[in-house]
Amino acid sequence: MALLSWSDQYLIGNDIIDTEHKELFRLINDFHTHWVDAQDRRDIARVLNHLIAYAQMHFQHEENIMEAAGYPNLLQHQHTHEALIDSIFQLHQSYSEGNLHLEIDTMKFVRNWLIEHILKSDYLFRDFLKRQKSSGEAVA
Ligand SMILES: [Fe+2]
Repeated sequence: MALLSWSDQYLIGNDIIDTEHKELFRLINDFHTHWVDAQDRRDIARVLNHLIAYAQMHFQHEENIMEAAGYPNLLQHQHTHEALIDSIFQLHQSYSEGNLHLEIDTMKFVRNWLIEHILKSDYLFRDFLKRQKSSGEAVA
């Protein structure tokens, strides 16, 4: 069973960001499936590496979109992204070193990592986009 299911309540209102968030959900589910199936640890590490690389690319796209939109909280959001990447790298490091106790922590972390990112940080950008749209409509 999939760990996370996508819901339209996670939509931000930017097509690129929303498409990439859906892909992140898919990758996390993929990571979870590999983990549950208890496949080769190297295989799990490979999936985790892919997830990290995709997340980094997504963060870069998101920052570019935010910058182009004139988002005032961009710097703060960049710091959030840096902290998220740092923490997943640390976890990945411990995981690769073979700390078995970290498996459950990794799973929990990865799930919360994405949910927290979308719910806490990206919703602020969603609200900004909404305000921008409604003020644009008021002018028109
Ligand atoms: Fe995001």
